[in-house]
Amino acid sequence: MNNRRIALVTGAAKGIGRAIVERLIREDYFVVALDINAAGGEELVAAFGGENLSFEAVDVCNESEISALFSKMERLEVLVNNAGIIRDNMIWNMPAEDFDVVININLKGPWLLCKEAAVLMKRQNSGRIVNIASRAWLGNRGQTNYSASKAGVVGMTRALALELGKYNVCVNAVAPGLIDTPLTQNLEPAVLQKLIEAQPTRTMGKPEDVANVVAFLASPETRFITGQTIYVDGGKSIGAGW
Ligand code: NAI
Repeated sequence: MNNRRIALVTGAAKGIGRAIVERLIREDYFVVALDINAAGGEELVAAFGGENLSFEAVDVCNESEISALFSKMERLEVLVNNAGIIRDNMIWNMPAEDFDVVININLKGPWLLCKEAAVLMKRQNSGRIVNIASRAWLGNRGQTNYSASKAGVVGMTRALALELGKYNVCVNAVAPGLIDTPLTQNLEPAVLQKLIEAQPTRTMGKPEDVANVVAFLASPETRFITGQTIYVDGGKSIGAGW
């Protein structure tokens, strides 16, 4: 790893996380890839090589494992909080456990990682944090838990940008729309088709579309951009329109 910039990416084993890993390695980062999916992690190491990546089988909600991981790190240029899940249902059908698990993984997990990264980045007087939110923070039917968790990510991003600004640490969020990943491949085909038709671009995004923006926000060139949420959603966040 030597003098290479180090990036920690959560939820790295598949989908958007994997595309972010690939993109950051192309930008010559050494990536610490974190995921609960250990088999996916082995596959990542095989694909990208131990000289470019190390894998940590850690749950973003596990405070002691996260702090053990950070205790081994001397520096960190970029943290990407990407791990996230959905447990969709209308509120009247949603078990309270599905609210808790989504808030825990999507919001508390990133908060735990931000907390550790803030200590390190404040000390080194530099850094970038990119939190993957979702366009759904604006509101989606069937996603009271998920929308609340992602609205929390946007709020946390703004608050942390204020706390870390004077330490040269920029904190931003990316809000993807409909992206073609294992998460959306699980949607019913008819539902997916409707969602695609509701996009101004009439297409789904690709994981690489999100990874490109993460790479931009991670770069040293973005030192004057902080607290922002950048939509990568084919225009869906604009609202209704013909
Ligand atoms: P995915 O389901 O394809 O991949 C998520 C990864 O996170 C998996 O490798 C999974 O093992 C890992 N993960 C789940 N829980 C974890 C935990 N507790 N600790 C560590 N790792 C964990 O999901 P996808 O689509 O790649 O989504 C990535 C992020 O982008 C999520 O935060 C999601 O909410 C967000 N997003 C995705 C959109 C989409 O259309 N796919 C749209 C908007 C936001």
